[in-house]
Amino acid sequence: MTYNNILSESNNGLTTITINRPSKLNALNSETIKELHEAFKNADKDKTTKVIIITGSGEKAFVAGADISEFADYSVVEGERLASEGQALLFDFVANLSTPVIAAVNGFALGGGLELAMAAHFRIASDTAKMGLPEVSLGVIPGYGGTQRLPQLVGKGRAMEMIMTAGMIDAQKALNWGLVNHVTTQEELIPFVEKIASKIMRNSSVAIAAAITSINSGYEAGENGFNTEVSEFGNCFGTADFKEGTTAFLEKRRANFPGK
Ligand code: COA
Repeated sequence: MTYNNILSESNNGLTTITINRPSKLNALNSETIKELHEAFKNADKDKTTKVIIITGSGEKAFVAGADISEFADYSVVEGERLASEGQALLFDFVANLSTPVIAAVNGFALGGGLELAMAAHFRIASDTAKMGLPEVSLGVIPGYGGTQRLPQLVGKGRAMEMIMTAGMIDAQKALNWGLVNHVTTQEELIPFVEKIASKIMRNSSVAIAAAITSINSGYEAGENGFNTEVSEFGNCFGTADFKEGTTAFLEKRRANFPGK
């Protein structure tokens, strides 16, 4: 499939999706959101893809936000639809994907860009990255999950401060606050993310999917994460991956997971 705004490349179990509008600092317009939905859906369906990396093209930006030129004259109804459709197509979709998604934050991650990075399962940043939710400086609030995911990751007080000041934090502060897991140089970013991805790939993709469901369940209103864990734990006992993982351990060899 060919895309106008993104690149998607698969190799050795890894699919790298790159947002490719560098002249607009990779801002997310509606076409880009639809293309990202397709690319994530296809990578998740493709059984050879074990890990997905999401990053931005160029050295300046991961994503500098939702495309402001697209929604500047929206009405109340259109604004609400923008948020709900975006969350369904991309942000919640990514957060609940069975395949692990790592955000490689290679520069500005602002507004919808930080929200996309936060929807990924975890984040690794270059030391040049800058992160923030500047929406209130435009008279609006984060609408792609930012008011929910930022406090989950950095705590309520820090999220309140970041959102109210509309300010940016650098990669080191993001690391200290738990918003990103690691910081590397710009050159080392993708090789470092790929190294972590290769560790993930050695493990059971079925068990990883069950872990994602269980972890996310604890953050869903009305769900009991402990109950979800019990049920997902039980389901693992019926999988070929569990049989292979335990047999390999007892036979003192490395597991070769069938992924079922
Ligand atoms: N939506 C639409 N276009 C955007 C954009 C966005 N969120 N962010 C950047 N761009 C465009 C700029 O309009 C500019 O386009 P132009 O060359 O056609 O005028 C181009 O990307 C380069 O951006 P520019 O502002 O010239 O770069 P800079 O280095 O001076 O500043 C930022 C970088 C990130 C500080 C600045 O672009 C910015 O504040 N962007 C908006 C961030 C934001 O508020 N995001 C939340 C949206 S809800």
